[in-house]
Formats: sequence, structure tokens, C-alpha cells
Amino acid sequence: MIETSGDEIGKTQLVQYAQDLHRTYEQLLAKNKELEILEKKKNDFLEMILHELRTPITKVMMAAEIIMSSRPIDKKARLPYESLKKGIKKLEYVISEIALAAQQSHDKAPVRRGEVLLSALIKRLKVDVEQFITTRKQKITFSGLSRDIAVKGNPMRLYDAFFNIVQNASRFSKDGAEIKIRVKREGDFAVVEVIDRGIGIEKSKIGLIFGSFYEDVDISEHHSGDFEFKSSKLGLGLYISKKIIEKHGGSISVESKVGKGSTFTIKLPAAL
Ligand SMILES: Nc1ncnc2c1ncn2[C@@H]1O[C@H](COP(=O)(O)OP(=O)(O)OP(=O)(O)O)[C@@H](O)[C@H]1O
Ligand SMILES: [Mg+2]
Repeated sequence: MIETSGDEIGKTQLVQYAQDLHRTYEQLLAKNKELEILEKKKNDFLEMILHELRTPITKVMMAAEIIMSSRPIDKKARLPYESLKKGIKKLEYVISEIALAAQQSHDKAPVRRGEVLLSALIKRLKVDVEQFITTRKQKITFSGLSRDIAVKGNPMRLYDAFFNIVQNASRFSKDGAEIKIRVKREGDFAVVEVIDRGIGIEKSKIGLIFGSFYEDVDISEHHSGDFEFKSSKLGLGLYISKKIIEKHGGSISVESKVGKGSTFTIKLPAAL
């Protein structure tokens, strides 16, 4: 009879663990590869669809313009023309958002690195969000705008990222709610906090909201709008915002409690 010492059992178990671990690692690598291929396929598909949609939409719009510019103008055509124009604008918006998301996900080129004053950018945002904030009878307060904190990057892209986060804060808060925006410097970082007291996000959903085409509603309850309570469009805003912020060397995180509200924190390397 062969006797096995406790040490040997321990060693055999360790070897077994190491082999299991290695196998799991290999499986993860293979799954990751599969996901990368799927992601690429999805983006290629989106680009192809967008390309196919753009041309007919432009043609329809041009045809409508020609009809409306012909003389004499048919007064009865004015109303259908306006609604056609509105519909086309909406389609153009959808196409440009999807194109932007697809571009953000595969464009690895570094962003343009001009200096951007955060206070100026947020002040512009303040003016632009005023319309939907007042329509919803909400209140928005800003702090830290008197200090000039600069970051490096593309002001238009950064503006898009902040706009979406503030728009979300408004959309997912009730009428009359308060939203706070705090700008500050923390060591080498410029920090912007967007704080709402809205519906909040379940813990299990936090990891999902930055993914593409994600919205936390039953699709049958989806209603699109720019600022109405719980309205949303494509579920792309945070996905695009995160990509933009990361391309600027920054990060975005969220702390949230259902029914209590959410705080989105954006950190960007401050320009020296
Ligand atoms: N401040 C917030 N409070 C509560 N839920 C939020 C908040 N911000 C985002 N969410 C949740 O995360 C989802 C994804 O947000 P995201 O901005 O990506 O898409 P969206 O606002 O639904 O659509 P889009 O931005 O494309 O118009 C939202 O649908 C919502 O469920
Ligand atoms: Mg959004």
C-alpha cells in the first residue's frame, strides 16, 4: 500500500487548482475574442445600415425642398411638408447618434489636445439646459465656476458628454426637482459632479448603463423625448459620454440609490 503524506495531497491539489485556473483563463480568452468579433460585426452592420439610410433620406429631403420651392406654392402642402421635415430631422438625429457611437467604439485616434476651460464649458451648458430645466420646473445650481480649471481636449466632444449626463439628471428626476453641478479640482484632476435626487439606479444595473443601446425600461414603455420625465432615445448617451471621457484620459463613475438619486462623477486630467 502506498502512503501519501499530507504535503503530497496539498501539492496535488495545488497542481489541480493551477490547471483549473489555466483552463478557465483560456476559456475567458476565447470568450473575449468571440465578443470582440461580435462587437466588430455589430459595428460593421450599423455602419452599413447607416450608409444605406443616409442616401434615401437626403434624396427625400431634396425632393421635398424642390416641391416646396416650385411656384405657385400649394398651401395645402405646407403642413405635410413641415411634418415630413420634422420626421427627417428625427431620422437624421438617430443616424448621427448611432454613427457617433460606432465611431467612438472603434476610433482609437487620440483626441485633439487644445486647452479647454471647464468653467466656460459648463456656463455654456447652463444656458443650453435652461430651456428643459424650466419646462420641467426644475432647479439647477452650479458651484465652483468662479475658478478656472482647464483640461486638454476637444471642447465639442466634452460638451456632448456633459450635456447627456445633465439631460439624464433632468429626465430621470421628477418635475420641480433640484440638480446640482459641482466643479472642483482634486490634485491633478478636474472633477465634475452631476447630482440629482431622481429615481436612482438599481445596483445590478450600474454596470449596464454605460453599455450601448441600454435603457432601463421595458421596450413597450419606451417613449422618446428630449426632456420629459423618464423619456429616452436610443440608450446611447452614457455609452458615448464614457468613450469620450476615457479618450480624454478621464473616468466616469456613478453612485446611486433607488428613489434617492444619483451622482455621476467625471474626472479629467487637469491641464498644468
Ligand atoms: N441620472 C440618472 N438617474 C436614473 N437613471 C439614469 C440616469 N442616467 C441614466 N440612467 C439610466 O441609464 C440608461 C442609459 O442612459 P443613456 O444616457 O445611455 O441613454 P438614454 O438617456 O436612455 O437615451 P439617449 O441618451 O440615447 O437619449 C437610461 O435609460 C436610464 O435608465
Ligand atoms: Mg441619455
